[in-house]
Amino acid sequence: MSGEPEPIPLAQPDIGSREETLVLEVLRSGQLSLGPMGQRFERELAAWLGVEDAVAVSSGTTALHLGVRALGWGAGDEVLTSPFSFVASANCLLYEGARPVFCDVDPVTLNLDPAAAAAAAGERTAGILPIHIFGYPAAMAALESLASAQGLGILEDACEAIGAVDSEGRRVGSRGNLATFAYYANKQMTTGEGGTIVPTDAECGARIRSERNQGRAIDMGWLDHDRLGFNYRLSDVAAAIGVAQVEKLDELLERRAAVADLYEQGLAGIEGVATPIAGRGQERRSWFVYTVRLADGVDRDATIARLAARGIASKAYLPCIHLFPHLRELGYREGQFPVAEAAAAHSLALPFFPAISEGQVARVCQELAAALGQTPVTG
Ligand SMILES: Cc1ncc(COP(=O)(O)O)c(C=O)c1O
Repeated sequence: MSGEPEPIPLAQPDIGSREETLVLEVLRSGQLSLGPMGQRFERELAAWLGVEDAVAVSSGTTALHLGVRALGWGAGDEVLTSPFSFVASANCLLYEGARPVFCDVDPVTLNLDPAAAAAAAGERTAGILPIHIFGYPAAMAALESLASAQGLGILEDACEAIGAVDSEGRRVGSRGNLATFAYYANKQMTTGEGGTIVPTDAECGARIRSERNQGRAIDMGWLDHDRLGFNYRLSDVAAAIGVAQVEKLDELLERRAAVADLYEQGLAGIEGVATPIAGRGQERRSWFVYTVRLADGVDRDATIARLAARGIASKAYLPCIHLFPHLRELGYREGQFPVAEAAAAHSLALPFFPAISEGQVARVCQELAAALGQTPVTG
């Protein structure tokens, strides 16, 4: 339609000629799976993260599933985790018959509150599954103290947090715990679909590599299997995209942080909109989404609809997972986790991706102000 500004999507991957070149290289090589590009992706990602090893898998969810299995969590085990997350961080426990025990979150970071986790630990607690939500590092030092005091395993869901830095200045996923990453197209880096699991040691890595490949050890033939396994492999075509993305990951993360700064400035004068923290002490967010918190009394659905009418995508992000029907079956109800539920009720994700322009961010801010009944701030 003439005169209408271009719609602004919520997310958009950054794919360029380097991705095309490497994908073409794989296509022409004829080795589309279990080939050298997959190994290269694993090596380059491990080097970027500063870890010994990183196993590529088909998604963040499959990475989490293999992590749960590596820790041996199953029927009768309870795992302390956050209700303010994407559903896969609880589902991976259900796959193995373990029970997610939700605990409320910290109001600033929206991550699992260590005090709430300590209060919920009991006889059956086998582990802790913290999520670095919206790319903000979880309170790992405190959670590790709790885990070591009670003999618990840890699986870090870093699917939204590649590049985040924790309170001790360490890159998320490099503390020696099992940790997972994910590469859906809205993530900081993408392979279309894909994920990684960082194993704790060589034996753990070998088990995970076998389980992702139908229960075949590295030296076994195609029709030999010595354990239960899955097809959780990442194709070399996807790995090629991953190699190109790792090469420019620093740049992608810097650009996302710059966009977050633009939003911070652009939203400053708007009443009833609280912006997320970028860091605190040594903690640094890796910007996955840009979610603001709307004040009590703001009609979020109406705000989303007004923005949509102006060509701007936005989303209520994210709902609490303990309230989904299959988790309510475990006895969870509204009102149990007031901090998480309040965050879920008020958070709004705005368009956020590396190529968004300064002008587009300004337009989102102006339209949000208008949607809230405020005069757009200009200049
Ligand atoms: C916190 C969290 N955990 C797990 C996942 C699952 O990743 P995937 O969609 O690659 O299976 C996601 C992805 O959206 C996520 O945000």
